[in-house]
Amino acid sequence: MSMLIPPPLSLYVHLPWCVRKCPYCDFNSHEFKGGTPPFDAYVDALLADLDQDLPLVWGRTVHSVFFGGGTPSLFPADAIERILQGASSRLRFAPEAEITLETNPGTAEHGRFEDYRRAGVNRISFGIQTFDDATLKKLGRIHDSAQAAAAVDLARNAGFDNFNLDLMYALPDQTLAMAEADVLRAIELAPTHISHYQLTLEPNTVFAARPPTGIPDDDLAWDMQERCQALLADAGYAQYEVSAYARAGRQCAHNLNYWRFGDYLGIGAGAHGKLTLGSEQTILRRWKSKHPIAWLAGAGTQAGIGGDERIEPARRPFEYMLNTLRLVDGFTLSGFEATTGLPPSAIDAPLAIAIDRGWLQRDADRVVPTELGRRFTNDVVALFLED
Ligand SMILES: C[S@@+](CC[C@H](N)C(=O)[O-])C[C@H]1O[C@@H](n2cnc3c(N)ncnc32)[C@H](O)[C@@H]1O
Ligand code: SF4
Repeated sequence: MSMLIPPPLSLYVHLPWCVRKCPYCDFNSHEFKGGTPPFDAYVDALLADLDQDLPLVWGRTVHSVFFGGGTPSLFPADAIERILQGASSRLRFAPEAEITLETNPGTAEHGRFEDYRRAGVNRISFGIQTFDDATLKKLGRIHDSAQAAAAVDLARNAGFDNFNLDLMYALPDQTLAMAEADVLRAIELAPTHISHYQLTLEPNTVFAARPPTGIPDDDLAWDMQERCQALLADAGYAQYEVSAYARAGRQCAHNLNYWRFGDYLGIGAGAHGKLTLGSEQTILRRWKSKHPIAWLAGAGTQAGIGGDERIEPARRPFEYMLNTLRLVDGFTLSGFEATTGLPPSAIDAPLAIAIDRGWLQRDADRVVPTELGRRFTNDVVALFLED
């Protein structure tokens, strides 16, 4: 065994409610029916949840915070401020910490972005999905394309110069030209980052039970991906992960930390954490109770914890590859050693097979997936599964 060295630490905060549940979505998100969600009680519970996890990260610095959901932009700015103040009084924040808030354009109101900025948020991620109004309806979205563009303008006018737009492709009845038009429209809004996800029919969603008609087949979806990637590259957005594109220096620090097998605390309903415990030389995964009401009742006590699991050494190569091989620039063997606590020789055999098949390339320290390897990521990663 080598020495496990704790990697950079991030904080994920899950805010679970949405105005309406989208039929394709399998996130831990819940339509809030009637009245207003219990924002204050939820913030109190988040801080109790954090207090309970603190001994696991004593003395460490937080490099990024991500408010994900659900629809975090349902929360008023004073609630976000109370979370950030509470977290930064309990944990050391890096001075340049990236602090992202996911926003549904249907919840953007005038004045709200100024308040989020004052609260400490410095990056916004918008769930746009598409600019085609008929398709937005099929996706059950609560906003149209004009509202999406207006929300982006509001954020920009409030001083947000760092924002992401989420787009999906391979949508019902979408043509190649429509997918391209979405990307071009997104580029016009000049974000620093674009996430471009292929629509997947996730089990236990309305779309899985009753699939919409006109979903593009795999060949068309592949063409959409390639064409859109080229349009994005022409406009200065370099692909750095399967679905992520950014202007130079504007990659999402929070997501990059996940993909580099970094550490993260997860607070809130159903949030997942992964923490390297240097003193014990183990890696802990911890997840919280999933349902918001159950989590609210138990947060800060054993009842709020959904489970704890150690990542055994034999499983670490697979988990490491599952994350790092999503990245265009792969991983380093020194990074592998520090974050898994295993010597590089532990992966000699599967690495040699992957190189032989033309899926990976390596120099002295860096291992990078080839074009072919990126097309067959699942097969490459499977080579690193324990026997
Ligand atoms: C938590 S949501 C983002 C914020 C906000 N809830 C919203 O939808 O506007 C994260 C993103 O994941 C993507 N996503 C969700 N479900 C998906 C699916 N089934 N297939 C592909 N992408 C999906 C969407 O682009 C979505 O914006
Ligand atoms: S708004 Fe976002 S999180 Fe909520 S259901 Fe729709 S895609 Fe999922």
